[in-house]
Amino acid sequence: MRRMNGITDKDVERYMDELLPARDDVLREMEERAERESIPIIGPAVARVLYQYARLIGARRVFEMGSAIGYSTIWLARAVGEGGKVYYTDGSRRNADDARAYFERAGVADRIEILVGDSRDLIDTLEGEFDLIFNDVDKHQYPDAFRKAAPRIRSGGLLVTDNALWYGRVAREGTDPDTEGVREFNRLIYSSDDLYSVILPIRDGLAVCLKR
Ligand SMILES: C[S@@+](CC[C@H](N)C(=O)[O-])C[C@H]1O[C@@H](n2cnc3c(N)ncnc32)[C@H](O)[C@@H]1O
Repeated sequence: MRRMNGITDKDVERYMDELLPARDDVLREMEERAERESIPIIGPAVARVLYQYARLIGARRVFEMGSAIGYSTIWLARAVGEGGKVYYTDGSRRNADDARAYFERAGVADRIEILVGDSRDLIDTLEGEFDLIFNDVDKHQYPDAFRKAAPRIRSGGLLVTDNALWYGRVAREGTDPDTEGVREFNRLIYSSDDLYSVILPIRDGLAVCLKR
C-alpha cells in the first residue's frame, strides 16, 4: 500500500493499518498487485471510509470517476448491495478488462456497469442523479470533474474525492498542474453554496462533500 508523506504521522498510520481487518483473497491480491506495479489505489483504510459513507446514506446508485483496476469499485459495489448499481469508468480498456475479471471473482459483477472513456464525458451519457460520486481522476482535472459531478448528486448525497491533500503539496510548494488542480478543487468545494464539505486527513486526504 502506498505510504504518504507529511499528512499523518508514519507511526500513527502504521498503527491504523495494523488495526484493519483482513480483506478477502481478491482485495488482498489487488492490494499486492497495486503495491508491486505502483497502481495508485485508495487502499483499505480509505476504502472503509468510502464504504461506511455509502452505507450511511443508503447509496444505491454510484458513479465512479477513475476506477483503474476496480479496487475502490468493489468496495462501493459491496456497499450498495444487491440490486444496487455502480458505474465503473476509466480511460484504459486494459484496466477495464482486468477490473471485469476481479469483479467476477469478487461476486459483484452483476451490479457494476463498465464504461471506458473520459469519466467527465461518460457522466453525460447517463440520465438521473446519483447517491454518491467518487472522484479519483487525474488531479489537474479535479476542477472540471467537480463541475461535472456536483450537479449530478441528489440532495443528501455525497461527492467523495481522494487525494485532497496531494501528499501535502497543496499546503506547501508546488505550482504544477496537479497541485493547482487539487487546490482549485478544494477552493470550489468549500465555497460552494450547494455543498457542505470536509477534508478528512486520512492517508492522502479524502474530501467528503454533502449535497444540501
Ligand atoms: C488513482 S487511479 C484510480 C484508483 C481507483 N479509484 C482505486 O482506488 O482503486 C486513477 C485512474 O483514473 C484513470 N483516469 C484519470 N483521469 C481519467 C478521466 N478523466 N477519465 C477516465 N479515467 C481517468 C487513470 O487512467 C487511472 O486508471
